[in-house]
Amino acid sequence: MFKMQTISSCIILSMLLLNILCTGHGNKGWGITFNPPEVTAVPGLCALISCTFTYPDKANPIDNVQWKVCSKTGECKNDIFKGKVSTQNENKLEEKETETERIKMLEPDMSKTNCSIIMKDIKAEDENEYAFRVEGQKTYKNTFNPTVKIIIQDKPIMDVPPLSDGVEANLTCSAPFPCPETPPEIKWWIKTREGNILSYKDDNIILISSTSLYLSTLTLTPTSKLHNATVGCDVSYGDKTISTSRTLEVMYVQTLRILGNNRVREGDTLSLICTVECHPPSSDPVWSFSGSTDTIRNHTSAENLMITNVRKEHAGIYVCEMTYRNETLKASITISVIRKEDFQMQVDIRMITGFLTGISMSAVIFSVVLCCHESWQSRDKIHEVMDTNTYTEVILEVFYDQEGHHKE
Ligand SMILES: *[C@@H]1O[C@H](CO)[C@@H](O)[C@H](O)[C@H]1NC(C)=O
Ligand SMILES: *[C@@H]1O[C@H](CO)[C@@H](O)[C@H](O)[C@H]1NC(C)=O
Ligand SMILES: *[C@@H]1O[C@H](CO)[C@@H](O)[C@H](O)[C@H]1NC(C)=O
Repeated sequence: MFKMQTISSCIILSMLLLNILCTGHGNKGWGITFNPPEVTAVPGLCALISCTFTYPDKANPIDNVQWKVCSKTGECKNDIFKGKVSTQNENKLEEKETETERIKMLEPDMSKTNCSIIMKDIKAEDENEYAFRVEGQKTYKNTFNPTVKIIIQDKPIMDVPPLSDGVEANLTCSAPFPCPETPPEIKWWIKTREGNILSYKDDNIILISSTSLYLSTLTLTPTSKLHNATVGCDVSYGDKTISTSRTLEVMYVQTLRILGNNRVREGDTLSLICTVECHPPSSDPVWSFSGSTDTIRNHTSAENLMITNVRKEHAGIYVCEMTYRNETLKASITISVIRKEDFQMQVDIRMITGFLTGISMSAVIFSVVLCCHESWQSRDKIHEVMDTNTYTEVILEVFYDQEGHHKE
């Protein structure tokens, strides 16, 4: 038993050793590097898979190279590209054995160990893993691992940080750069609640080469007006445009206000509304009267305070408090209650004053009329006396005409 274990251990060990010796013998073994390891592609555009590979010397000369699509179970069998490498014109990729014009190897010289391909006219179904295979001499054939993944993205990706009124923020929109021939142009727009469209063109797009993504940043200082506005990002690759949009949420708070009449007649209804415009919503208001919340608890519902049949003890200071994001908002109003008798008296005084004013006015008008009449009579006298002096007569006439006009 012990012997058996030792023997099998020895066999495994020597096999491992042999393996290390073989692959590490002076030259490289099978190896592949994809950069980037995942390719994000846009439907309708092409996708570049960039890679380099190594192979053992004994595989030389390479007979053919293949690209295979892998199934969900991980089997990479179906050829999407097959190219024969010339034996006369050494290492040159010659014949394409597959129908596909859609896939092109960029470097025909296989000795450059560059396995990069461009796949044209990407479709949603192309989202798969792909494997590269090299068949060399004798048994030196290998389907490389790792494989490369194509991910289909049909919209740009927008990142919006939390926004607050008056605080600068950077929004980003990232667009895949699947194909070197068509670098994207990125445009931002904002559609306000009123439907106005503001446009921004970004000339400062950054290519992040590690992920092959273009990144555009929109620096924005939002206000409450932009709450519920729509922000969008359009990415154009020549004729092809992909876009995304979303609703902006701006945190904002305006002044807390109490709406209502601050003078109430005894017996009438006192009705106050405590209101604040903000996002996200504030807490429900807490009303207090003369420093106490208890006395008026029964009279409040949501933002309203309502006291029917007001009495004089209801006069005083009413305070409304709300909490908005750990911040206490406060407003107050002083209510005066007008007593019934006072109100009656006020009405009476007003009536009496009105009456008196009426009488005085009549008296004045009467006096004026009387006065005018007197003057008219005296003018007649002057007319008679100074008939010869026309100049004086005219002056006097002007004077009396003005007076008469004023009094009417
Ligand atoms: C592969 O070959 C193509 C075409 O010659 C070249 O543009 C690309 O840079 C090469 N890629 C690598 C990783 O060397
Ligand atoms: C936004 O980006 C600009 C430019 O990259 C930078 O100067 C600024 O500090 C950023 N603002 C914030 C709030 O991150
Ligand atoms: C914003 O949108 C929400 C949800 O549609 C709506 O309830 C709210 O009243 C809107 N706010 C403003 C200020 O338009």
